[in-house]
Amino acid sequence: MNSLARSFATLSLVFSAGLFSACDVQTYDDAAAAFNAGGSSPPPTTPPVTPPPAPPTASFGPNFSEIQAAVFTPDCATSNCHSGANPQASLSLEEADSYAMLVGIASTQDAGIQRVVAGNPNNSYLIQKLEGTAATGTVMPPTGGLPQVDIDVIRQWISDGAIDDRVVVVNPIRLTSLSPAPGATLDAAPSQIVAGFDRELDASTVNAMTFTLFASGGDGSFNSGNEVQINATSISVPGANPSTAVFDLAGVALADDSYQVTLLGTGASVIMDIDANALDGEFSGTLPSGNGVAGGTFQAPFTVTTPVVLGPTLDQIQATVFSPLCSSCHNGAGANLPGSLNLSNANASFAALVNIASVQNAAIMRVAPNDPDNSYLIHKLEGTGGVTIMPPSGMLPAATTAVIRQWISDGAVR
Ligand code: HEC
Repeated sequence: MNSLARSFATLSLVFSAGLFSACDVQTYDDAAAAFNAGGSSPPPTTPPVTPPPAPPTASFGPNFSEIQAAVFTPDCATSNCHSGANPQASLSLEEADSYAMLVGIASTQDAGIQRVVAGNPNNSYLIQKLEGTAATGTVMPPTGGLPQVDIDVIRQWISDGAIDDRVVVVNPIRLTSLSPAPGATLDAAPSQIVAGFDRELDASTVNAMTFTLFASGGDGSFNSGNEVQINATSISVPGANPSTAVFDLAGVALADDSYQVTLLGTGASVIMDIDANALDGEFSGTLPSGNGVAGGTFQAPFTVTTPVVLGPTLDQIQATVFSPLCSSCHNGAGANLPGSLNLSNANASFAALVNIASVQNAAIMRVAPNDPDNSYLIHKLEGTGGVTIMPPSGMLPAATTAVIRQWISDGAVR
């Protein structure tokens, strides 16, 4: 505030304070006079303070339907005005027509300006006519302008985007996301199933009837009669995200199998939104679900396949490599290879490999603990130096050999 403005402010403060005290004195004098007439000394009362009158408010809100009911229908769509087959200025403000004839439509009096420009009341011809600032014609309604408070509500509706609040959502609710994804193959069991929808759910419709999970029973089929229902720890619609349904699997062990998630849209109990629209659930491979018609159950599978983890222990290597791939030849029979190298069980393999010289290359141990590069077993598995590769049917995957190397690096313990 500059000094001039400040002194004005001070002045007006003094002025209103002066007014108030004049009023004060007047009231006090009146009371004193009245009291003196009664013959006693004046009471030490404070004068009553009259609250300022409340500012006038409109009787309707900034919604199209309320404006229609409070203004357009009673004040504009009257006979011979903005109604009937041949309305004034080709503008019908009857309920059925007004929104379509106002928003984004050029004025007939001034084609350079739209009747209602969503978001811009100042450039809306409707406001200019109501406030009497239009270049052409008279203020509307001609019988006398509306109170400014009413016009301000219409301004607010336009500022808010001139939305038609009569449009209600009738589309059925659809599933927009699912985790695990439909058809996913997981290498570990999920801890929860999360279904996302395109709007808020009626949480009371999301329960163990309408949101289910079945295991195939090991055959990958969900029609063979051996399916196993999986019970959730809880099924909920989180308050913080009411468009989501969560099937909690905390503490639930899911064996390797195929699983099917089902969300009911058809039947006695179905998943619904808060407007009681039923789930439009049909699923043909892409989300969102549905065929545009309420109803239809959503179903999608996922698979849990826990990878066989080949850990660097001799028991695991025995079970995964030596027994299935080597022991048919290296079976402990006879004094010569391959039988003399007994790989038929973990104890025999340990005894035949660790710190035992190779027959083919006596300078090197079959397995030299902590030294895979100088272990003949590794040479035979990797073909090092041109030795014939084991198994004879073809080299093992590098990942498998890497695990055997790791076992040797770790000390080749039993
Ligand atoms: C089809 C039979 C057969 C299978 C299966 C087989 N081997 Fe052999 N293995 C042989 C024969 C025969 C020899 C000796 C000739 C050679 O090395 O080709 C041999 C030699 C070896 C030697 C050399 C032993 C030494 O003391 O020099 C190692 C080590 C070996 N095999 C490991 C394995 C491993 C490990 C597997 C499994 C991953 C395996 N073999 C699978 C037949 C087999």
